[in-house]
Amino acid sequence: MASLFAHLTIRGVTFKNRIVVSPMCQYAAIDGFATDWHFDHHARFALGGVGGALVEATGITPDGRITPDCLGIWDDRHVDGLARIVATYHRQGAAIGIQLSHAGRKGSSTAPWQGGWAIPAEDPAAWQTVAPSPIAYHEDWPVPHALNKSEIADIVAAFVEAAKRAVTAGFDFVEIHGAHGYLLHSFVSPVSNQRTDRYGGTAENRMRLSVEVATAIRAAIPEGMPLFYRASCIDRIPDAGLTLADAVVLAKALKTVGVDVVDCSAGGILVRTNPGHIQEGPGFQIGFAARIREEAEIATMAVGAITEPEQAEDVIASGKADLVAIGRELLADSNFAHRAAGALGIERPDFVLPERYAFYLQFRRPAS
Ligand SMILES: Cc1cc2nc3c(=O)[nH]c(=O)nc-3n(C[C@H](O)[C@H](O)[C@H](O)COP(=O)(O)O)c2cc1C
Repeated sequence: MASLFAHLTIRGVTFKNRIVVSPMCQYAAIDGFATDWHFDHHARFALGGVGGALVEATGITPDGRITPDCLGIWDDRHVDGLARIVATYHRQGAAIGIQLSHAGRKGSSTAPWQGGWAIPAEDPAAWQTVAPSPIAYHEDWPVPHALNKSEIADIVAAFVEAAKRAVTAGFDFVEIHGAHGYLLHSFVSPVSNQRTDRYGGTAENRMRLSVEVATAIRAAIPEGMPLFYRASCIDRIPDAGLTLADAVVLAKALKTVGVDVVDCSAGGILVRTNPGHIQEGPGFQIGFAARIREEAEIATMAVGAITEPEQAEDVIASGKADLVAIGRELLADSNFAHRAAGALGIERPDFVLPERYAFYLQFRRPAS
């Protein structure tokens, strides 16, 4: 049987296969509340047979959102809508997690198709962003407010309250968003963190907020609930910023405080058009997941330009990662799991798809 379709149990949660929907912002929320778009969007993947999924970056505070249209989990009233997304996956036997996020200095932005740029300060929709240091994401972006010690403690507390709401909503696992230049990554990276207190300077100090958030969430969620952390494994800036060796150190620290899986992404600390920005090729982040898995001895999820069944199978079968997160390929083909099962020699459509679809579909068999 293909490794991609082997069950995986982490703490008390079993993934029926290794294919996970990568977190993908939909910019379709109203005041942080899930809307019909979210239910339709997630139903496609649940019915397509994925083993797990992550709900998009969800703001732990209103100013922790990336855009005004991002999902939120700062209010108990957000729980009901999120619970409907959970139920959509549970009906199909898939594990469902949520990515808890604070956008930091990259918040107060427009959606990608509106430019993905800072909302002008005079616009009533804009808000004051926060960061480790008063360093703007880009020279045309507003300078963020540098968080003081008590404000940092408030952020940790907001992550914990958000995690508790995720438990109430019925999520199987939680992912901390520590990537893509958002608040936690902006503390870890020396590009955006020039603090001189216990949250800046040494690598240990820059990682401190991430480790504190992971520690506090671990203490607040059930023992059987897996905790994921999405990291930007490199800053993609030649001769500056975070390297893979830094990511290994971070992964070891996170493992010590109860993180179960490192979701291995990259980049986001600087605008992509920055001169010297390292560009990615197909599957280029898979090597990050492999090295962190080996050196930090922690489970990993590989992500980034994984589009082919054989490629996904190789990631799992060769021990590079324990799960594969897929984003854009699932937007293009929400039945990727079905396609992969056929390509990897599984003959029964109902192995992946619900009976109501599988009854009418047959994988092609070679003519005998
Ligand atoms: C529409 C869209 C929204 C995204 N939103 C998020 C997000 O909320 N959180 C996150 O960590 N990454 C986000 N990403 C990045 C994806 O999770 C994924 O890491 C990236 O697209 C690379 O994987 P892929 O090549 O399979 O798409 C988003 C990507 C897309 C295409």
